[in-house]
Amino acid sequence: MRVTVSRKAHFNAAHRLYRREWSDERNQAVFGKCNNPNFHGHNYELIVSVTGEINPETGYVIDMKDLADIIFEEVEIAFDHKNLNLDVPDFENLIPTAENIVVVVWNKIRNRIDNSNDLEVTLYETPRNFVTFKG
Ligand code: NI
Repeated sequence: MRVTVSRKAHFNAAHRLYRREWSDERNQAVFGKCNNPNFHGHNYELIVSVTGEINPETGYVIDMKDLADIIFEEVEIAFDHKNLNLDVPDFENLIPTAENIVVVVWNKIRNRIDNSNDLEVTLYETPRNFVTFKG
């Protein structure tokens, strides 16, 4: 029996969506308000779901405490109260859109999860806008 275990997390971060090599006009046309040169913030919500077999000895797919610790170490410490463009090396050459953030988060957590388990990450940038990556 494969069961999905999910954990919610949260971080606040600032970003700006733009390409250095594009003109101001083109950045404004493509990214609009998200191109604000002084950055802007979001209250990001994260749902991390791990699917796998129930371990017959523990009754767990994954220990929720371990999953919480992994999210804390890999995502919250790295992103919370940071400027994603300026403070987070993952976005030095990658536009911090919700799509790119969810892939970065997925890769960080994937490295810490047993290979036999599947991983899905959903990232809410606003209550109505969210993205999902399953690898
Ligand atoms: Ni934004």
